[in-house]
Amino acid sequence: MRYFKNVSDIGDIKAAVKEALEVKKNRFDYKALGRDKTLLMIFFNSSLRTRLSTQKAAMNLGMNVIVLDVNQGMWKLETERGVIMDGDKTEHLLEAIPVMGCYCDVIGVRSFAKFENKKDDYEEKILNQFIQYSGRPVFAMETATVHPLQAFADLLTIEEHKRHERPKVVMTWAPHPKSLPQAVPNSFAQWMVAAGYDFTIVQPHGYELSEKFTKGAKIEYDQDKALAGAEFVYAKNWAVYADADYGKNICGDRSWTVTTKKMALTDNGFFMHCLPVRRNMIVSDDVIESKNSLVIPEAANREISAQVVLMRILSELED
Ligand code: CP
Repeated sequence: MRYFKNVSDIGDIKAAVKEALEVKKNRFDYKALGRDKTLLMIFFNSSLRTRLSTQKAAMNLGMNVIVLDVNQGMWKLETERGVIMDGDKTEHLLEAIPVMGCYCDVIGVRSFAKFENKKDDYEEKILNQFIQYSGRPVFAMETATVHPLQAFADLLTIEEHKRHERPKVVMTWAPHPKSLPQAVPNSFAQWMVAAGYDFTIVQPHGYELSEKFTKGAKIEYDQDKALAGAEFVYAKNWAVYADADYGKNICGDRSWTVTTKKMALTDNGFFMHCLPVRRNMIVSDDVIESKNSLVIPEAANREISAQVVLMRILSELED
């Protein structure tokens, strides 16, 4: 594997899950793969889980790790070509990227949607510049439109907890005080469809995601109806994808918060969220603290999804 953005990059999804569950049992058995190899993790945005889990995965593999926070202790970067750089930005990304590539073997990039220009976000302008100019394998650590390490970890968590082969999984929109990117719901939808689950997305009107990611999912607008019989409830806020209101937060309806009353509609359903989560906006305290909450197992599986992706990349590195 040279690049990791979409579910198709992982190949056979069942084989990937099997490999991940094996890795989870013996995560320190693969140190030879990463010896004398360096991972550079670049963060344009904040992180807790991605930073720690990906670094841990790399250490499990014997890799050296460099973490770069673009907004701390680094020259301010210009990302647009053609700009006359007479302002506060000292370095252009188009020099910075190949320079970064000189010091590492693999690059992970975190760069959220800016919601300034839908075309730039959905063309993955920043990630693709790393792919084009770094000369290194590149993987997404949540980009403008995708968060595949999270979706892979979520898939593993469902596989570990499902009660039968094809569980009913519902992703529900939930309220949030500010606009959030579509990367997590896009990837979750893409991976759930690929896994072949009975998968429904429920959202207020106007919150339809790109069909590129949701094709094959059932779409609902009535949350109670969608939650009936659900075995896994994945809560997430996202901003509007449609052109007219792209990036806006047009619904503040708190009745979409996932509460004990909502979970009572499910089939003893598990609650899931990628974290960080705003309690009593997205989910009530009692639901996230319940025995059916999987938020910590999901976070723990981030180490495993990152390790499998790094192993796939390392095993195809040219010497
Ligand atoms: N879920 C997730 O990616 O968490 P962080 O933003 O803390 O990395």
